[in-house]
Amino acid sequence: MAEARAALEMEIVEGSHELFRRVADWQREGAKVGFVPTMGALHEGHLALVRRASELTDKVIVSVFVNPTQFGPNEDFDKYPRDPQQDAEKLQPAGCDLLFLPEIATIYPEGHCTFVDVEGVSDGFEGDQRPGHFRGVATVVSQLFNLVQPDVAVFGEKDAQQVAVVRRLVRDLHVPVKIEALATVREDDGLALSSRNAYLSTEDRQAATVLYRALNAAQKVIEAGERSADTVRAILAEVLASESRLIVDYADVVDAESFKPVEYLDGRIVIPVAGRLAATRLLDNLQIDMENL
Ligand code: PAJ
Repeated sequence: MAEARAALEMEIVEGSHELFRRVADWQREGAKVGFVPTMGALHEGHLALVRRASELTDKVIVSVFVNPTQFGPNEDFDKYPRDPQQDAEKLQPAGCDLLFLPEIATIYPEGHCTFVDVEGVSDGFEGDQRPGHFRGVATVVSQLFNLVQPDVAVFGEKDAQQVAVVRRLVRDLHVPVKIEALATVREDDGLALSSRNAYLSTEDRQAATVLYRALNAAQKVIEAGERSADTVRAILAEVLASESRLIVDYADVVDAESFKPVEYLDGRIVIPVAGRLAATRLLDNLQIDMENL
């Protein structure tokens, strides 16, 4: 990373002490600190969060850390795409002031044994598909909040259940941070940008738009007045079944805060869909505030 450090104004910090010093300087100057946690392999979706953070705050910290505790034993931790040099080059023009690139031992020092479990909202959906995933996310996000001490942290609605888990943990642990969630950034054909899209074969890339098509079909009937969650579920299932390559993990209608399935569409709802194309997991969702329809 020495080259990147020399070429860029943006600071790159690996250790927690250096990070603390930098944040303390900014806080003394009265600067508001924004934070965007990521696992790298950055795309326009991540960069939209960084731009939003730089609109909302004076100094922006982005972390790139592929967090081992949120991957299951048979998941893609080892092959998860890693490209810190390219990440650094994309971050500076997006408005990042400091890139935090911790080592695993910085986040999980020897003997680390404290975990954060956010009950209820972590159950079902990604929580069922990936046992232990949200425990790993909640733990690393709590640690990163303590290390970075941000005023505002920006997350993507793309991972809607993750946002619900983070909002709950911030409330329950009295973390003094404001959580901002940003709409999903998509390709022209509607596919939600994801670091994992890089795994898709040409055929699977074409098939991948079925998630977006299912969400669009749901949105249409809801806008036309449908309020029965079961009818929406049936429409999602029908569209998803039209793509034989996709193995559906779930397609549902839930309350945005609790992530519990609903009967009737009311308040803020999320329609999460997820499935697999070959070995690649895809997830997407639609968020609707029924009061604004
Ligand atoms: P990662 O998958 O790298 O995502 C980092 C942030 O980018 C998350 O808030 C995610 O929701 C957001 N994001 C991903 N794709 C997006 C898109 N197409 N449009 C808008 N935002 C998008 O999520 C994680 O990392 C990790 O779980 C993390 C929170 C960093 C904890 O390890």
